[in-house]
Amino acid sequence: MNSGAGAPDGHSRDPAAPTDGSDTGRPHADHREPRCVGITGASGYLGSRIGERFERAGWRVIPLVRRPGSAVAPARHYDLTEAVDPALFDSIDVLVHAAYDLTARRPDEVWRTNVDGSRRLLDAARRAGVGRIIVLSSMSAYDGTRQVYGRAKLAIETAALAAGGYVVRPGLVWGDRPGGMAGTLDRLCRHRVVPLVAGHAGQFLVCDVDLSEAVVALATTDLAPQVIGVAGPEAVRFRTVLETFARRQGVRCRFLPVPWRPLHWALRAAEAVGAPLPVRADSLLGLVHPAPDVPGPDALARLGIRPRPFSAAAP
Ligand SMILES: NC(=O)c1ccc[n+]([C@@H]2O[C@H](COP(=O)([O-])OP(=O)(O)OC[C@H]3O[C@@H](n4cnc5c(N)ncnc54)[C@H](OP(=O)(O)O)[C@@H]3O)[C@@H](O)[C@H]2O)c1
Repeated sequence: MNSGAGAPDGHSRDPAAPTDGSDTGRPHADHREPRCVGITGASGYLGSRIGERFERAGWRVIPLVRRPGSAVAPARHYDLTEAVDPALFDSIDVLVHAAYDLTARRPDEVWRTNVDGSRRLLDAARRAGVGRIIVLSSMSAYDGTRQVYGRAKLAIETAALAAGGYVVRPGLVWGDRPGGMAGTLDRLCRHRVVPLVAGHAGQFLVCDVDLSEAVVALATTDLAPQVIGVAGPEAVRFRTVLETFARRQGVRCRFLPVPWRPLHWALRAAEAVGAPLPVRADSLLGLVHPAPDVPGPDALARLGIRPRPFSAAAP
Protein backbone atom coordinates (compact mmCIF):
# COMPACT_ATOMS: atom_id res chain seq x y z
CA MET A 1 0.00 0.00 0.00
CA ASN A 2 1.24 3.43 -0.79
CA SER A 3 1.56 5.32 2.38
CA GLY A 4 4.74 7.02 1.21
CA ALA A 5 2.86 10.01 -0.18
CA GLY A 6 1.42 11.03 3.18
CA ALA A 7 1.42 14.59 4.43
CA PRO A 8 4.09 15.66 6.89
CA ASP A 9 1.49 15.38 9.70
CA GLY A 10 0.84 11.74 8.76
CA HIS A 11 -2.64 12.33 7.30
CA SER A 12 -2.70 11.08 3.77
CA ARG A 13 -5.85 10.60 1.73
CA ASP A 14 -5.88 6.91 0.90
CA PRO A 15 -7.70 6.15 -2.35
CA ALA A 16 -7.91 2.46 -1.51
CA ALA A 17 -9.56 3.04 1.88
CA PRO A 18 -12.84 1.19 2.41
CA THR A 19 -16.03 3.26 2.35
CA ASP A 20 -17.82 1.24 5.03
CA GLY A 21 -15.87 2.72 7.93
CA SER A 22 -13.90 -0.49 8.58
CA ASP A 23 -10.33 0.00 9.69
CA THR A 24 -7.43 -1.30 7.66
CA GLY A 25 -4.85 0.37 9.86
CA ARG A 26 -4.19 2.87 7.09
CA PRO A 27 -5.02 6.55 7.48
CA HIS A 28 -8.18 7.52 5.60
CA ALA A 29 -9.50 10.32 7.77
CA ASP A 30 -11.23 12.40 5.11
CA HIS A 31 -12.36 9.86 2.56
CA ARG A 32 -15.36 10.85 0.45
CA GLU A 33 -17.38 9.42 -2.43
CA PRO A 34 -16.87 9.56 -5.32
CA ARG A 35 -13.13 9.35 -5.21
CA CYS A 36 -11.41 12.16 -7.03
CA VAL A 37 -8.49 12.11 -9.48
CA GLY A 38 -6.65 15.18 -10.72
CA ILE A 39 -4.98 14.75 -14.11
CA THR A 40 -2.31 17.03 -15.56
CA GLY A 41 -2.18 16.87 -19.35
CA ALA A 42 -5.89 15.98 -19.32
CA SER A 43 -6.36 17.87 -22.59
CA GLY A 44 -3.80 15.66 -24.36
CA TYR A 45 -4.06 12.27 -26.03
CA LEU A 46 -3.35 9.99 -23.07
CA GLY A 47 -4.58 12.32 -20.32
CA SER A 48 -8.01 12.48 -21.96
CA ARG A 49 -8.20 8.69 -22.51
CA ILE A 50 -7.17 8.04 -18.90
CA GLY A 51 -9.71 10.60 -17.64
CA GLU A 52 -12.52 8.90 -19.58
CA ARG A 53 -11.54 5.53 -18.12
CA PHE A 54 -11.54 6.92 -14.56
CA GLU A 55 -15.00 8.43 -15.16
CA ARG A 56 -16.34 5.10 -16.38
CA ALA A 57 -14.99 3.53 -13.17
CA GLY A 58 -17.04 6.04 -11.13
CA TRP A 59 -14.32 8.54 -10.26
CA ARG A 60 -14.70 12.31 -10.26
CA VAL A 61 -12.10 13.74 -12.63
CA ILE A 62 -10.56 17.19 -12.29
CA PRO A 63 -8.47 18.22 -15.30
CA LEU A 64 -5.38 20.21 -14.26
CA VAL A 65 -4.70 22.14 -17.45
CA ARG A 66 -3.30 25.35 -18.88
CA ARG A 67 -6.68 26.47 -20.26
CA PRO A 68 -9.33 25.36 -17.76
CA GLY A 69 -12.09 27.11 -19.74
CA SER A 70 -11.68 24.72 -22.67
CA ALA A 71 -12.00 21.51 -20.59
CA VAL A 72 -15.29 19.57 -20.50
CA ALA A 73 -15.22 18.84 -16.76
CA PRO A 74 -14.73 21.61 -14.14
CA ALA A 75 -10.99 22.14 -14.38
CA ARG A 76 -8.19 23.88 -12.49
CA HIS A 77 -5.35 25.92 -13.88
CA TYR A 78 -2.00 24.15 -13.94
CA ASP A 79 1.12 25.05 -15.90
CA LEU A 80 4.43 23.16 -15.67
CA THR A 81 6.30 26.48 -15.85
CA GLU A 82 4.55 28.09 -12.88
CA ALA A 83 4.67 27.79 -9.09
CA VAL A 84 2.22 25.27 -7.64
CA ASP A 85 -0.57 26.51 -5.37
CA PRO A 86 -1.31 23.82 -2.73
CA ALA A 87 -5.04 24.50 -3.34
CA LEU A 88 -4.53 22.72 -6.66
CA PHE A 89 -4.86 19.45 -4.73
CA ASP A 90 -7.99 20.30 -2.71
CA SER A 91 -10.19 17.17 -2.49
CA ILE A 92 -7.90 15.26 -4.84
CA ASP A 93 -7.19 11.67 -3.72
CA VAL A 94 -5.06 10.61 -6.67
CA LEU A 95 -2.80 12.69 -8.89
CA VAL A 96 -2.00 11.45 -12.40
CA HIS A 97 0.81 13.48 -13.95
CA ALA A 98 0.65 13.18 -17.74
CA ALA A 99 1.60 16.73 -18.80
CA TYR A 100 4.78 17.08 -20.79
CA ASP A 101 5.82 19.89 -23.10
CA LEU A 102 7.19 18.36 -26.30
CA THR A 103 7.66 21.79 -27.87
CA ALA A 104 10.68 22.33 -25.60
CA ARG A 105 13.68 21.29 -27.73
CA ARG A 106 16.94 22.52 -26.21
CA PRO A 107 18.07 20.36 -23.27
CA ASP A 108 18.10 23.34 -20.86
CA GLU A 109 14.58 24.24 -21.94
CA VAL A 110 13.38 20.62 -21.58
CA TRP A 111 14.90 20.51 -18.10
CA ARG A 112 13.48 23.86 -16.97
CA THR A 113 9.96 23.12 -18.19
CA ASN A 114 9.49 19.41 -17.78
CA VAL A 115 11.94 18.24 -15.10
CA ASP A 116 11.89 21.26 -12.78
CA GLY A 117 8.14 21.70 -13.37
CA SER A 118 7.42 18.04 -12.53
CA ARG A 119 9.65 18.20 -9.45
CA ARG A 120 7.68 21.23 -8.19
CA LEU A 121 4.37 19.49 -8.80
CA LEU A 122 5.35 16.19 -7.19
CA ASP A 123 6.92 17.83 -4.17
CA ALA A 124 3.83 20.01 -3.67
CA ALA A 125 1.54 16.97 -4.02
CA ARG A 126 3.54 15.09 -1.40
CA ARG A 127 3.41 18.04 0.97
CA ALA A 128 -0.34 18.43 0.40
CA GLY A 129 -0.84 14.78 1.41
CA VAL A 130 -2.20 13.52 -1.89
CA GLY A 131 -2.73 9.83 -1.15
CA ARG A 132 -1.46 8.49 -4.43
CA ILE A 133 0.70 9.81 -7.21
CA ILE A 134 1.02 8.18 -10.64
CA VAL A 135 3.46 9.61 -13.16
CA LEU A 136 3.53 8.86 -16.88
CA SER A 137 7.10 8.29 -17.91
CA SER A 138 8.21 6.49 -21.07
CA MET A 139 10.01 3.38 -22.28
CA SER A 140 12.63 5.87 -23.52
CA ALA A 141 13.66 6.23 -19.88
CA TYR A 142 16.18 3.43 -19.54
CA ASP A 143 19.73 3.49 -18.26
CA GLY A 144 22.02 4.55 -21.08
CA THR A 145 19.34 6.25 -23.15
CA ARG A 146 20.72 8.78 -25.66
CA GLN A 147 17.54 10.82 -25.87
CA VAL A 148 17.15 14.10 -24.01
CA TYR A 149 13.51 13.01 -23.59
CA GLY A 150 14.59 9.71 -21.99
CA ARG A 151 17.03 11.43 -19.63
CA ALA A 152 14.39 13.99 -18.63
CA LYS A 153 11.92 11.20 -17.95
CA LEU A 154 14.51 9.36 -15.82
CA ALA A 155 14.93 12.53 -13.72
CA ILE A 156 11.15 12.86 -13.38
CA GLU A 157 10.94 9.20 -12.35
CA THR A 158 13.44 9.84 -9.56
CA ALA A 159 11.27 12.73 -8.31
CA ALA A 160 8.13 10.57 -8.55
CA LEU A 161 9.63 7.73 -6.51
CA ALA A 162 10.98 10.21 -3.94
CA ALA A 163 7.42 11.50 -3.54
CA GLY A 164 6.18 7.93 -2.93
CA GLY A 165 4.63 7.75 -6.38
CA TYR A 166 4.18 5.07 -9.02
CA VAL A 167 5.92 5.37 -12.37
CA VAL A 168 4.29 4.09 -15.54
CA ARG A 169 6.48 3.54 -18.59
CA PRO A 170 4.13 3.13 -21.55
CA GLY A 171 5.41 1.64 -24.76
CA LEU A 172 4.57 3.32 -28.05
CA VAL A 173 0.85 3.90 -27.57
CA TRP A 174 -1.54 2.99 -30.40
CA GLY A 175 -5.31 3.11 -30.59
CA ASP A 176 -8.28 3.81 -32.84
CA ARG A 177 -7.49 7.54 -32.91
CA PRO A 178 -3.82 7.63 -31.94
CA GLY A 179 -2.02 10.76 -30.81
CA GLY A 180 1.59 11.30 -29.82
CA MET A 181 4.25 9.45 -31.81
CA ALA A 182 1.76 6.86 -33.13
CA GLY A 183 -0.41 9.70 -34.43
CA THR A 184 2.60 11.15 -36.25
CA LEU A 185 3.50 7.76 -37.75
CA ASP A 186 -0.13 7.19 -38.71
CA ARG A 187 -0.14 10.44 -40.68
CA LEU A 188 3.21 9.58 -42.26
CA CYS A 189 1.75 6.30 -43.54
CA ARG A 190 -0.92 8.13 -45.57
CA HIS A 191 1.80 8.88 -48.10
CA ARG A 192 2.64 6.49 -50.94
CA VAL A 193 6.37 6.61 -50.23
CA VAL A 194 7.53 6.55 -46.62
CA PRO A 195 11.14 6.98 -45.47
CA LEU A 196 12.10 4.10 -43.21
CA VAL A 197 14.79 4.28 -40.53
CA ALA A 198 15.74 1.42 -38.26
CA GLY A 199 13.14 -0.86 -39.79
CA HIS A 200 14.47 -3.84 -37.83
CA ALA A 201 14.55 -2.11 -34.44
CA GLY A 202 12.09 -3.73 -32.03
CA GLN A 203 9.45 -1.46 -30.48
CA PHE A 204 7.30 -2.32 -27.47
CA LEU A 205 3.72 -1.16 -27.93
CA VAL A 206 0.54 -0.81 -25.92
CA CYS A 207 -3.05 -0.03 -26.85
CA ASP A 208 -4.35 3.19 -25.22
CA VAL A 209 -7.27 1.19 -23.73
CA ASP A 210 -4.90 -1.15 -21.86
CA LEU A 211 -2.70 1.72 -20.72
CA SER A 212 -5.69 3.61 -19.30
CA GLU A 213 -6.86 0.43 -17.58
CA ALA A 214 -3.43 0.02 -15.97
CA VAL A 215 -3.40 3.59 -14.63
CA VAL A 216 -6.88 3.18 -13.11
CA ALA A 217 -5.78 -0.13 -11.55
CA LEU A 218 -2.72 1.60 -10.04
CA ALA A 219 -5.00 4.12 -8.34
CA THR A 220 -6.15 1.47 -5.86
CA THR A 221 -3.52 -1.26 -5.99
CA ASP A 222 -1.78 -2.69 -2.95
CA LEU A 223 1.50 -2.97 -4.90
CA ALA A 224 4.36 -0.90 -3.55
CA PRO A 225 5.32 2.21 -5.51
CA GLN A 226 7.68 1.24 -8.31
CA VAL A 227 8.47 1.59 -12.00
CA ILE A 228 6.09 -0.44 -14.16
CA GLY A 229 6.42 -0.89 -17.90
CA VAL A 230 3.05 -1.00 -19.63
CA ALA A 231 3.50 -2.66 -23.01
CA GLY A 232 3.17 -6.05 -24.66
CA PRO A 233 6.14 -8.34 -23.91
CA GLU A 234 7.01 -8.90 -27.58
CA ALA A 235 9.03 -6.28 -29.43
CA VAL A 236 7.58 -5.52 -32.88
CA ARG A 237 9.81 -4.60 -35.83
CA PHE A 238 9.41 -0.92 -36.65
CA ARG A 239 8.70 -1.77 -40.28
CA THR A 240 5.81 -4.00 -39.18
CA VAL A 241 4.45 -1.12 -37.08
CA LEU A 242 4.40 1.19 -40.12
CA GLU A 243 2.97 -1.49 -42.41
CA THR A 244 0.14 -2.04 -39.93
CA PHE A 245 -0.63 1.68 -39.65
CA ALA A 246 -0.70 1.94 -43.46
CA ARG A 247 -2.99 -1.13 -43.82
CA ARG A 248 -5.41 0.27 -41.24
CA GLN A 249 -5.85 3.28 -43.51
CA GLY A 250 -6.15 1.22 -46.67
CA VAL A 251 -2.88 2.64 -48.00
CA ARG A 252 -0.30 0.57 -49.86
CA CYS A 253 2.88 2.53 -49.28
CA ARG A 254 6.42 1.82 -50.36
CA PHE A 255 9.18 2.08 -47.82
CA LEU A 256 12.38 3.84 -48.69
CA PRO A 257 15.17 2.74 -46.31
CA VAL A 258 17.10 5.81 -45.16
CA PRO A 259 20.32 5.81 -43.07
CA TRP A 260 19.37 7.40 -39.79
CA ARG A 261 22.49 9.51 -39.12
CA PRO A 262 22.18 11.90 -42.08
CA LEU A 263 18.47 12.23 -41.34
CA HIS A 264 19.25 12.99 -37.71
CA TRP A 265 21.74 15.70 -38.69
CA ALA A 266 19.24 17.17 -41.16
CA LEU A 267 16.52 17.28 -38.50
CA ARG A 268 18.88 18.91 -36.03
CA ALA A 269 19.93 21.52 -38.58
CA ALA A 270 16.28 22.25 -39.42
CA GLU A 271 15.44 22.54 -35.70
CA ALA A 272 18.33 24.96 -35.21
CA VAL A 273 16.71 27.39 -37.66
CA GLY A 274 13.25 26.83 -36.16
CA ALA A 275 11.73 24.94 -39.12
CA PRO A 276 8.47 23.14 -38.23
CA LEU A 277 9.03 19.39 -38.50
CA PRO A 278 6.78 16.33 -38.20
CA VAL A 279 9.39 14.40 -36.16
CA ARG A 280 11.96 15.73 -33.69
CA ALA A 281 15.61 14.71 -34.02
CA ASP A 282 15.45 13.47 -30.43
CA SER A 283 12.42 11.26 -31.21
CA LEU A 284 14.33 9.72 -34.12
CA LEU A 285 16.95 8.54 -31.61
CA GLY A 286 14.16 6.77 -29.70
CA LEU A 287 13.19 4.85 -32.83
CA VAL A 288 16.80 3.88 -33.57
CA HIS A 289 17.69 2.96 -29.98
CA PRO A 290 14.50 1.62 -28.40
CA ALA A 291 14.26 0.27 -24.85
CA PRO A 292 15.84 -3.18 -24.44
CA ASP A 293 12.96 -4.62 -22.41
CA VAL A 294 9.74 -3.88 -20.52
CA PRO A 295 10.40 -3.37 -16.79
CA GLY A 296 8.19 -4.88 -14.08
CA PRO A 297 6.16 -7.45 -16.08
CA ASP A 298 5.13 -9.27 -12.88
CA ALA A 299 3.67 -6.07 -11.44
CA LEU A 300 1.61 -5.56 -14.58
CA ALA A 301 0.26 -9.10 -14.30
CA ARG A 302 -0.59 -8.49 -10.63
CA LEU A 303 -2.58 -5.44 -11.70
CA GLY A 304 -4.59 -7.82 -13.88
CA ILE A 305 -3.43 -6.14 -17.09
CA ARG A 306 -2.47 -8.25 -20.11
CA PRO A 307 -1.77 -5.81 -22.95
CA ARG A 308 -3.33 -7.01 -26.19
CA PRO A 309 -0.73 -7.86 -28.86
CA PHE A 310 -0.04 -5.26 -31.55
CA SER A 311 -1.39 -7.76 -34.12
CA ALA A 312 -4.84 -6.74 -32.79
CA ALA A 313 -4.27 -3.37 -34.48
CA ALA A 314 -4.19 -4.97 -37.92
CA PRO A 315 -7.43 -4.73 -39.95
N1 LIG B 1 1.75 8.94 -26.69
C1 LIG B 1 2.71 8.04 -26.44
O1 LIG B 1 2.96 7.13 -27.26
C2 LIG B 1 3.46 8.09 -25.15
C3 LIG B 1 4.32 7.03 -24.87
C4 LIG B 1 5.02 7.05 -23.68
C5 LIG B 1 4.86 8.09 -22.78
N2 LIG B 1 4.03 9.12 -23.08
C6 LIG B 1 3.90 10.18 -22.07
O2 LIG B 1 2.53 10.32 -21.75
C7 LIG B 1 2.24 11.67 -21.43
C8 LIG B 1 1.12 12.18 -22.31
O3 LIG B 1 1.52 12.06 -23.67
P1 LIG B 1 0.52 12.37 -24.87
O4 LIG B 1 0.89 11.49 -26.00
O5 LIG B 1 -0.87 12.38 -24.36
O6 LIG B 1 0.98 13.86 -25.23
P2 LIG B 1 0.09 15.12 -25.67
O7 LIG B 1 -1.14 14.71 -26.41
O8 LIG B 1 1.04 16.04 -26.34
O9 LIG B 1 -0.35 15.75 -24.28
C9 LIG B 1 0.53 16.50 -23.52
C10 LIG B 1 -0.24 17.29 -22.49
O10 LIG B 1 0.69 18.07 -21.74
C11 LIG B 1 0.14 19.36 -21.61
N3 LIG B 1 1.18 20.38 -21.48
C12 LIG B 1 2.14 20.73 -22.36
N4 LIG B 1 2.87 21.74 -21.88
C13 LIG B 1 2.36 22.04 -20.64
C14 LIG B 1 2.66 22.99 -19.65
N5 LIG B 1 3.66 23.87 -19.81
N6 LIG B 1 1.94 23.00 -18.50
C15 LIG B 1 0.92 22.13 -18.33
N7 LIG B 1 0.55 21.22 -19.24
C16 LIG B 1 1.28 21.17 -20.39
C17 LIG B 1 -0.65 19.60 -22.87
O11 LIG B 1 -1.59 20.61 -22.59
P3 LIG B 1 -2.13 21.69 -23.66
O12 LIG B 1 -3.40 21.08 -24.20
O13 LIG B 1 -2.35 22.90 -22.84
O14 LIG B 1 -1.05 21.86 -24.70
C18 LIG B 1 -1.28 18.23 -23.10
O15 LIG B 1 -2.46 18.10 -22.39
C19 LIG B 1 3.55 12.44 -21.60
O16 LIG B 1 4.17 12.54 -20.35
C20 LIG B 1 4.34 11.55 -22.53
O17 LIG B 1 5.72 11.73 -22.33
C21 LIG B 1 3.33 9.15 -24.24
